[in-house]
Amino acid sequence: MYYEADLDKIDLNSEPPSEEPARQYYFMAKCKEWVREFERKNGRPPTAFTQTFGCQMNARDSEKLAGILKNIGYTEADSEKADFVIFNTCTVRDNANQRVYGRLGELNGYKRKNPEMKVALCGCMMQEPAVIEKLRKSYSFVDLVFGTHNIFKFAELLCTVYEKEQKGMIIDIWQDTDKIVENLPVERKYPFKSGVNIMFGCNNFCSYCIVPYVRGRERSREPGEIIREIERLVQDGVVEIMLLGQNVNSYGKNLDEPMTFAQLLREVEKIEGLRRIRFMTSHPKDLSEELIQVMKESKKICRHLHLPLQSGSTDVLTRMNRRYTKEQYVELALKIRKEIPDIAITTDIIVGFPGETEADLEDTLDVVRKVKYDNAFTFIYSKRTGTPAAAMENQVPEEQVKTGFDKLLKVVQDTAKEQAAKYQGQVMEALIEEVNENDNHMVTGRLSNNMLVHLPGDASMIGKLVNVSLDQCHGFYYIGHAADVQLL
Ligand code: SAH
Ligand code: SF4
Ligand code: F3S
Repeated sequence: MYYEADLDKIDLNSEPPSEEPARQYYFMAKCKEWVREFERKNGRPPTAFTQTFGCQMNARDSEKLAGILKNIGYTEADSEKADFVIFNTCTVRDNANQRVYGRLGELNGYKRKNPEMKVALCGCMMQEPAVIEKLRKSYSFVDLVFGTHNIFKFAELLCTVYEKEQKGMIIDIWQDTDKIVENLPVERKYPFKSGVNIMFGCNNFCSYCIVPYVRGRERSREPGEIIREIERLVQDGVVEIMLLGQNVNSYGKNLDEPMTFAQLLREVEKIEGLRRIRFMTSHPKDLSEELIQVMKESKKICRHLHLPLQSGSTDVLTRMNRRYTKEQYVELALKIRKEIPDIAITTDIIVGFPGETEADLEDTLDVVRKVKYDNAFTFIYSKRTGTPAAAMENQVPEEQVKTGFDKLLKVVQDTAKEQAAKYQGQVMEALIEEVNENDNHMVTGRLSNNMLVHLPGDASMIGKLVNVSLDQCHGFYYIGHAADVQLL
């Protein structure tokens, strides 16, 4: 059952319930009292601003925070000069952390001018003990710090901030959890598309990656909960969903009644009114024949597969603990291209992993040329404390990394352009997502293969599926025109 509590009916003189999500609705009701008092005092509701760093997982978490804030009466602010500011942080590479520290410096200035302002930090970076130490020492103006495992108890934590029985920074970080709390409110960023978590955490421990340490062990949501959530989203106007997990291909292994990701996709496909299904991310080692067949047969699964390579060298892959070889990866990618010819394959690649030689990079370039990625995200290796790779000797000199990175970028851009040019002149279905910022007579749509097309149009087309003629290819996007408008 979808839990819809009417906050005003909750008896705040009773003890808070111990079961979830009822407990959190109790605390939302309590926060609401405080919000009313704020309104009486200030003649307006309090405002909140959330800044999200990192991946889709964090973006979805921020929508959960926004759902709670809206339920208790906050209005959304569009800048950091709000009554309540939250940074939902990422720590996958060091530059993500540096950005957060930079923004925190600015916030300190705002808070001096408005001492009533509250600041909260959450997300992956908060799961690192060294970060908490630094915050305690140098950023003591922060009011609330929580992590990735207890984000569901945001309302309860907010209450402790308001009541402020405890002086100073409130810190609540859990090391791990097997808990999944369902049916808390969510406020979506887009009315027509939504992320849907299907699993949390990661068990892969790629040797460079901090995610398993900050997101905990892998746990899958019950398929019934996932289907019900999508059905509700569809009733609410959503036409495209993205199933989210660090490694969706290992979905369902730890359920009481195990099921595969491909089986889940078959169930999601049946949902009436749902038009498009995307998913992120697929680990190559777990991508099954069954999944390829489901994708091939599906009318709704988008023609896009994100298949992170990380490196094309078997030697580097072994030390990365990726558990596939160069040859296995290429064979898999080419097989997918053969089975589903119009699919776009995108990837992530890291340059400068410890011990990477020029010959290793050549292997990576070779894979890029063979697979012909439609797009690739390239990253410079970043040393993450606590991961096995951080302790590896022979970190690659900066100069070599830079040269290698530029070389890779060029090859990646060339293949992406070559791929995009293949579709010029075709008519493809696009989901119109937004009006262009600089020209309000142009809109942007996303094709099934995840490419973008700009076409003449207006705000009334947002959320609609439109057949678009891809007139000109500009490398990473197209300019086109609507061939017809489909009625939903
Ligand atoms: N679960 C997803 C990725 C999560 S992180 C997956 O396995 O694909 C997103 C990307 O960040 C990774 O694919 C990797 O390319 C990159 N990344 C992770 N750790 C990194 C590090 N220490 N340095 C540089 N890039 C990193
Ligand atoms: Fe990190 Fe590897 Fe897990 Fe992806 S699969 S989140 S890269 S450990
Ligand atoms: Fe960053 Fe956490 Fe995502 S570290 S990439 S926000 S899982």
